[in-house]
Amino acid sequence: MANLSLSSVRKSFGQQEILHGIDLDVQDGEFVVFVGPSGCGKSTLLRLIAGLDEVTAGDIVLDGKTVTRVAAAERGLSMVFQNYALYPHMTVYQNLAFGLENTPMKRSDIDQRVHKAADLLQLSQLLGRKPRQLSGGQRQRVAIGRSITRQPKIFLFDEPLSNLDAELRVQMRLELSKLHKDLRATMIYVTHDQVEAMTMADKIVVLRDGQVEQVGRPLDLYNNPANRFVAGFIGSPRMNFLGATVTHSPDGPPRISAEGLALSAAHLPLGQLQAQTPVTIGIRPEHLALGTAQDWPLEVSVVEQLGNTSYVHGTLPSAAALTIALNDQTAIRVGSTIFIKPIAGKVHVFLRAGTEVAMKPNP
Ligand SMILES: Nc1ncnc2c1ncn2[C@@H]1O[C@H](COP(=O)(O)OP(=O)(O)O)[C@@H](O)[C@H]1O
Ligand SMILES: [Mg+2]
Repeated sequence: MANLSLSSVRKSFGQQEILHGIDLDVQDGEFVVFVGPSGCGKSTLLRLIAGLDEVTAGDIVLDGKTVTRVAAAERGLSMVFQNYALYPHMTVYQNLAFGLENTPMKRSDIDQRVHKAADLLQLSQLLGRKPRQLSGGQRQRVAIGRSITRQPKIFLFDEPLSNLDAELRVQMRLELSKLHKDLRATMIYVTHDQVEAMTMADKIVVLRDGQVEQVGRPLDLYNNPANRFVAGFIGSPRMNFLGATVTHSPDGPPRISAEGLALSAAHLPLGQLQAQTPVTIGIRPEHLALGTAQDWPLEVSVVEQLGNTSYVHGTLPSAAALTIALNDQTAIRVGSTIFIKPIAGKVHVFLRAGTEVAMKPNP
């Protein structure tokens, strides 16, 4: 069992507060991903959980026990860093066993744990090698293996795949997801890469400037982002944002007027807003479709063909930039004008004040 609960956790370095009151629950067996831009406080938060740094205020509770002032070594967690430090003069076996040898564990038990970890990570053939005789991916697996042999209550990962090339990252992503299932372990994983977050997480925690912006399952964040920041951060290519106003016509439901087009948005409670309220609308590239001359004219500036998908970038008459994603390959050419429209029910509306909160869809 490993439940973790943070309440009102704050962290300052000198005068500067970096984390501004984090509340968070991690359930036993969950794969939780902290995601957010560089510098938002992900590593700091993970280090507080690990006990490598002390909180300035707030509490950390592990399996019902307050561990806020408990030393790292006594928390029973283990951390894998981006710059995994293996001992260069030791073999893979010795690296995996390191940390267990100073405990009262029996040699045969250590041996069993090392072989089990090596087996899980396909390192069994490499146990006699030194780190310099391994590829980058193999080294990273040894670093992960080292935390497996310790049988931690919770695995903590700080951008462990950032130093690997793109192909290896995809492969390790799958391996980590499988490892999570095989071990039924609780894992907290930090990344700035929203694709890693979307593909691996049971639960994503989106951080920005030392604050939690939203917590949810990957598709909940994609379908119902709480605010403009989350909407822009989750999803690739990025959501398109446009200025718009709410219009109430006497003879019909409220609409949104954007770039000269009146859009209906029956899925949103637009009636709650006063007529002429300025809002920001968000439409994902995959939620735009080709239309007719009554729709938005997009002057095409760049066409990216990925084979199975095409991204068409361009500008509207107002000069607002827009990207549309099309299934399959396209004959659309740079310099041409195409007509596009949002797919019904897929428009997001963000209020202009404060954190630009998203309107919740009708129940
Ligand atoms: N030991 C430290 N002393 C002072 N400032 C720090 C220290 N560690 C981190 N910071 C600052 O805290 C902020 C968050 O850093 P970090 O948690 O590393 O962000 P992330 O991992 O999300 O990129 C940054 O502005 C960073 O400069
Ligand atoms: Mg970091």
